[in-house]
Amino acid sequence: WAIAAPYVKAINDLKRERNAVVLAHNYMTPQIYHGISDVVGDSLALAIEATRVEADVIVQCGVHFMAETSKILNPAKTVLMPDMEAGCSLAESITAAGIAEMRAQYPGAPVVSYVNTTAEVKAASDICCTSANAAQIVAAMEGETVIMTPDKYLAQNVAKQVPQKNIVWWDGRCIVHEKFTAQDLRDFRGWHPDLKIIAHPECPPDVLAEADFAGSTAGILDWVGRERPGQAMLVTECSMAANISDAHPEVEFLGPCNMCPYMKKITLEKVLWSLHTMTGAVEVAPDIADRARVAVQRMIDLSR
Ligand code: 13P
Ligand code: SF4
Repeated sequence: WAIAAPYVKAINDLKRERNAVVLAHNYMTPQIYHGISDVVGDSLALAIEATRVEADVIVQCGVHFMAETSKILNPAKTVLMPDMEAGCSLAESITAAGIAEMRAQYPGAPVVSYVNTTAEVKAASDICCTSANAAQIVAAMEGETVIMTPDKYLAQNVAKQVPQKNIVWWDGRCIVHEKFTAQDLRDFRGWHPDLKIIAHPECPPDVLAEADFAGSTAGILDWVGRERPGQAMLVTECSMAANISDAHPEVEFLGPCNMCPYMKKITLEKVLWSLHTMTGAVEVAPDIADRARVAVQRMIDLSR
């Protein structure tokens, strides 16, 4: 924090000068999460909050698809991405051509795309979902067969929650969550019998089967706040436990975590530079943004 403090102050001063807000994902470092954010949350909360922003500038502390979503919802505002290389393995796994391929294979089936996709993919989809509302969105689709892209494991996990649907999926995976194994979880439970295990639904189904609770990053935060376990293992990105532990010193966080190399590209230095120079503005072509907005807004309306 001694090194971070001058950056935190400079960014907060510049935010006032530029009439900017910082929307930060739960995977940001504690310095960003606690020091400079105006809103923190999971992808769903950040998308909903993006519809309420009154400031002129949004600084997206998260990954590129999140900044695109903010821009889609706020075409007249400036949305700054402190590092354009902050991508996502899921978003990189599919293009609009992949969506067309799935539609050709399953004619008439609705396409539910995870928000972890590019604007172009959202524009080619019928509706978006996040890990917080995926089961609800899929259950609301017409017909028996539903195409879910691009996260194979999220689709397989949702299939268990919505057995009345025949869910077909794309073969995308999150490089952070696919690394956890069911054996890791069994080992930790063996060593710490009172341990509560909380996993993100981007993990493979056999990993989720070993968990006490599965949910979006906001769902994980809520669960820990509600249940206040003595010991907890968060089967997700490393910053989650770091961010949560300040509010819950009574909980001992154990176990392995995996770092998201994309999320960790966002640093205080880059946020300061982008706000200072007003560089890194995200643009989405208006015709793509118009179609993508329909898919994102349908999701937001269905999640109320
Ligand atoms: P949440 O919507 O649960 O925050 O997940 C976003 C994400 O990228 C997780 O890897
Ligand atoms: Fe993408 Fe996984 Fe990183 Fe989330 S944790 S941004 S899904 S690579």
